[in-house]
Amino acid sequence: MTRLSVNINKIATLRNARGGNMPNLIQFAIDCQNFGADGITVHPRPDERHVTASDALDLSLVVAQEYNIEGYPDERYFKILEKAKPAQATLVPDGPHILTSSEGWDIQKNFDFLKECLSKIHALGIRSSLFVAPELKQIEQAAKLGAHCIELYTGPYAYGYSQDRIAAVQPYALVSKFAVECGLGINAGHDLSLENLRFFKQNVQQLKEVSIGHALISDALYYGIENTIHLYKRCLID
Ligand code: PXP
Repeated sequence: MTRLSVNINKIATLRNARGGNMPNLIQFAIDCQNFGADGITVHPRPDERHVTASDALDLSLVVAQEYNIEGYPDERYFKILEKAKPAQATLVPDGPHILTSSEGWDIQKNFDFLKECLSKIHALGIRSSLFVAPELKQIEQAAKLGAHCIELYTGPYAYGYSQDRIAAVQPYALVSKFAVECGLGINAGHDLSLENLRFFKQNVQQLKEVSIGHALISDALYYGIENTIHLYKRCLID
């Protein structure tokens, strides 16, 4: 089974546009779970332009399914992890003002730093995941670091899908096989959608989790969030 973790950053963006509490982020997370989401993902960025540190803590009280907190591993991020105690921490290499994660870690270059981060995460009893491009050298290094999972950056797959979906998925299929052999769990995220998700799942061995925000929340404007979650889950089952 592949878990569908709904990234609810965009709900906070909408709320923040007006101040106040509409839509209610916490209720939205509860409803997503009731509608079948297997998890909730947030990325409490330092500029707090969508999910805030305080939201991340409030959510920890209501996320009964898997809670995944993404972020760059700085002091603020670790404070959030210590208090929120999510099931999973996904480390991304983003600088503070980046619009959205657009590349994975160069693990070799950041090896000592990441080693220290992972040991803190593991000491908190939290599962670790590293956001990486589908490159064998990153998988090899992630395994060497003792990470529990990798999250494959699927932006290039989504971009290539409309031109040649077989070529687009090939690097992911290849590294996932190797990652499984290395004992790493495989997650994936970025630009996954109703159009490209099913084919990705069919080609990537033992995909444990996808975290999806932008397309899923956009689809919910037309189909409603309950139907949308069902449609995405169907792509992971068929
Ligand atoms: N994974 C990571 C590491 C991300 O930064 C994001 C965007 O917040 C996602 C997955 C979800 O991407 P999208 O919003 O395109 O579905």
